[in-house]
Amino acid sequence: MSQSIDHVLQEHRRFPPPREFQSCARLSTEEAYQRMYRESLDDPEGFWGRIARELPWMQPFERVLDWSGAPFAKWFVGGRINASAVCLDQHAYGRRADQRAIVWEGEPGDTRTLTYAELHLEVSRFANVLKRRGVQKGDRVAIYMPMIPEAAMAMLACARIGAAHSVVFGGFSATALKERILDGGCTAVITADGGWRRGQILPLKPQVDEALEGVLGVHTVLVVRRTANRVTWNAGRDVWYHELAAEASTECAPEPMDSEDLLFLLYTSGSTGKPKGIVHTTGGYLVGAYLSTQFVFDLRDGDLFWCTADVGWITGHSYVVYGPLANGATILMYEGAPTTPTPGRFWEIVERHRVTIFYTAPTAIRTFMRLGDEVPAKSDLSSLRLLGSVGEPINPEAWMWYHRHIGRQRCPIVDTWWQTETGSIAITPLPGVTVTQPGSATRPFFGIDAAVVDDQGRELPPDQGGYLVIRRPWPSMLRGIWGNPDRYREGYWGKYQTMYFAGDGARRDASGYFWVLGRVDDVLNVAGHRLSTMEVESSLVSHAAVAEAAVVGRPDDVQGQAIVAFVTVVKGVEPGEALKEALKEHVAHEIGKLARPAEIRFTDALPKTRSGKIMRRLLRDVAAGVETTGDTSTIEDYALLARLRGDEE
Ligand code: PRX
Repeated sequence: MSQSIDHVLQEHRRFPPPREFQSCARLSTEEAYQRMYRESLDDPEGFWGRIARELPWMQPFERVLDWSGAPFAKWFVGGRINASAVCLDQHAYGRRADQRAIVWEGEPGDTRTLTYAELHLEVSRFANVLKRRGVQKGDRVAIYMPMIPEAAMAMLACARIGAAHSVVFGGFSATALKERILDGGCTAVITADGGWRRGQILPLKPQVDEALEGVLGVHTVLVVRRTANRVTWNAGRDVWYHELAAEASTECAPEPMDSEDLLFLLYTSGSTGKPKGIVHTTGGYLVGAYLSTQFVFDLRDGDLFWCTADVGWITGHSYVVYGPLANGATILMYEGAPTTPTPGRFWEIVERHRVTIFYTAPTAIRTFMRLGDEVPAKSDLSSLRLLGSVGEPINPEAWMWYHRHIGRQRCPIVDTWWQTETGSIAITPLPGVTVTQPGSATRPFFGIDAAVVDDQGRELPPDQGGYLVIRRPWPSMLRGIWGNPDRYREGYWGKYQTMYFAGDGARRDASGYFWVLGRVDDVLNVAGHRLSTMEVESSLVSHAAVAEAAVVGRPDDVQGQAIVAFVTVVKGVEPGEALKEALKEHVAHEIGKLARPAEIRFTDALPKTRSGKIMRRLLRDVAAGVETTGDTSTIEDYALLARLRGDEE
């Protein structure tokens, strides 16, 4: 890539915080924000030490930060804390005991509410079930669940006994689940018979069974009953949760964990084919999730906070479970699809439960835009006071629609930039302070020293596109990649040594606002989900008919990017519609439906440089149907480009 990244977006609309919102906001003046932000950078140890002490430590920390082993950080050194005690015990034994912790709605319309006292009890029970099955401190447990309260309980139960969880999104295939179970060395799996999705049962147990074929290290599959469909049973290994829970005690002391003990692994895609197990530890992660939830979402007593993300993603970890519960908030959890059984299901939920804070992804917003303005207009959305967006750059059109049709021009929008790796929100407006602009995540959160730099690491002047970096450690940062410290060092710190490189391009404008431009590596962002081009390519090539494959993203109105695969077939195979379908199915089976290519194009060859590197840049242009403006002089077979384009007709 050249020195700077081109940007075309120019956006001048500005939205100051609505006065009504500001008048009771946690932080409501620019001076107050500046003071806190400056303190967080000038005296990070003082700042983070003070914030961290707001959490209930079982043993106080001796030191705020040890960066001597950079880029491997240690935060709150010597401290002992338990994530489930932070999220539950302090509230269950305090004034929030009878406050609702979880308000849940299943897709068929069933509901369930758990107070902090009840959730505390259920999580303790769950923890005892895990113990009874031999799960111990230090073990890793895979969680493959629908969005039911037991998903959150399972995570917190692991944390309670000091086992790390590795949540795998229920939409991932058996193959993807297996890869993650093996890489993480998981010894138990928590799943359900199924979950409801679009009026159908999404079966989970068969995927687990397939994933565990030939896997010797997993001694227990704990199955939560949700859909009551028939499941196959592997006696000795499989156990029903409700059967063990009936006999389990509801008392379980939380394990005092070292601040740097592993809290969870969460797999995400990088530019190579193999998913990375992102390592998050206990103390720093909790502090980051706690503080960001409080300030970015301006939490107040009485709020009902709905983050629509699945617990299989980092957003579900930090803003469904750990951040809100650490703050004693009430969360809303919904099991199913946004448009089942009616296109207005989300807005009916907002109205029914009086949701006050709503946090979702741009791809969902664009889907709602397509369904028509009249859909949200049918619901009373007056309970909403704050909206959030996450997962990919939000286009100004979607931002404005969100503002008008959901926020009814009363609610600030926080466009939050962060990553699985950052653990918590890193660039964001603060809703009582920041003047927002559609398409900008605005300014860094407390303690985040973000910048836009060129190839050499020099900070760029305003309005020049470059690489987004963070120049110092922060508490909820990843601590590494599971089992692969070198990949961590090289992947995130290799480019600039002293700065964390996030993989995104951005520009910063003259007022200091960040405009994130998207990924600069071979990572796709499909409907807010990260997928590596290599991952999809290797899955295609694993099909017997495929000789070679190259995958690129094409701009897509709803999903952000759609996957286009260029495929060459092996000799003797007839490329045709049937094969296209078979290949799409194959990828969906290997990785999950979220990776299913939108389009397969057969070609007799792939454009390569003379050194044999696939020129994805050209393929991206071909896929998007735009002229190639970049340098094509290194292409080995120039005529191929014309053939690829000719294919389009
Ligand atoms: O490219 C950025 C994009 O999502 C990537 C992180 O993906 P993941 O680890 O799956 O986490 C998603 C939820 C935090 C980033 O590198 N991204 C996320 N939020 C935004 C964004 N791009 C632009 N604006 C955002 N608000």
